Amino acid sequence: MPHTLAVQTPEPGIRLVTLQRPQALNALNTELLGELSAELDGAEQDEAIRVVVLTGSRKAFAAGADIKEMAERDLVGILDDPRQQHWQRIARFGKPLIAAVNGYALGGGCELAMHADIIVASEDALFGQPEINLGIMPGAGGTQRLLRAVGKSLAMQMVLTGEPIGARLAQQAGLVSEVTQPELTLERALQIARRIAEKAPLAVRLAREALLKAMDTDLASGLRFERHAFTLLAGTRDRDEGIRAFMEKRPPEYQGR
Ligand code: CAA
Repeated sequence: MPHTLAVQTPEPGIRLVTLQRPQALNALNTELLGELSAELDGAEQDEAIRVVVLTGSRKAFAAGADIKEMAERDLVGILDDPRQQHWQRIARFGKPLIAAVNGYALGGGCELAMHADIIVASEDALFGQPEINLGIMPGAGGTQRLLRAVGKSLAMQMVLTGEPIGARLAQQAGLVSEVTQPELTLERALQIARRIAEKAPLAVRLAREALLKAMDTDLASGLRFERHAFTLLAGTRDRDEGIRAFMEKRPPEYQGR
């Protein structure tokens, strides 16, 4: 049983993971990152789970790396930090991951949200990379993922000043897909998860992979990947089922084959 997370399956196909270190605004200590990466590994291996929704509390999605824990690590400790392996496992997660963000998403918390495929945020959410205020810099992908999400100018401003941005600006900049009232954020994320969970699993998997390719490859290679993935799906039973269901004016019943 994890100590720092609550894990539920609120409906078939959807795993809900809630960060739970309220005493530290869900600061991401090593234990939490280890439990989260193990939980995602479990969800990946469980064929019944189609989508994972990750959330925090009303006040904080996560307020960053655990500064008190970080203070105990010197250079060598950081070189051999097991946290890097946990982050890599989180980054490798192979199913759709939706972050429902209320309140603070700072430092490692913002970086964690950016590991998600989709971010839904409450109107009072704050996204920031305040590491510069501590004499350090983002270390869990923040510089790379933030720049890709919001562009150079805003990413530079956020990382070099340490000042956070609100949910509306985050949405305009492309970091966040939707902004909701605080009490509706999780419900909206679950609704999106439900929509995705209804689709043909192989189509979701390959479409997601193709979109992620666009983050780190040139256009020609990305288009080649898309063409191969599209062709592969033509050989699936679910594609036949999707088309037949459309013709017969009924909902499709996908098998993941
Ligand atoms: N690590 C450890 N503890 C934290 C924490 C963090 N990142 N953020 C908050 N807490 C703790 C506070 O120390 C406090 O605990 P105590 O009551 O025991 O003192 C408790 O959570 C509540 O926090 P505050 O009293 O500070 O709450 P607030 O509402 O006044 O302020 C806040 C909220 C603005 C988010 C403020 O807590 C804050 O600035 N936190 C730090 C944010 C930050 O700098 N994050 C980046 C960390 S570095 C990083 O993330 C590196 C990386 O990616 C690799």
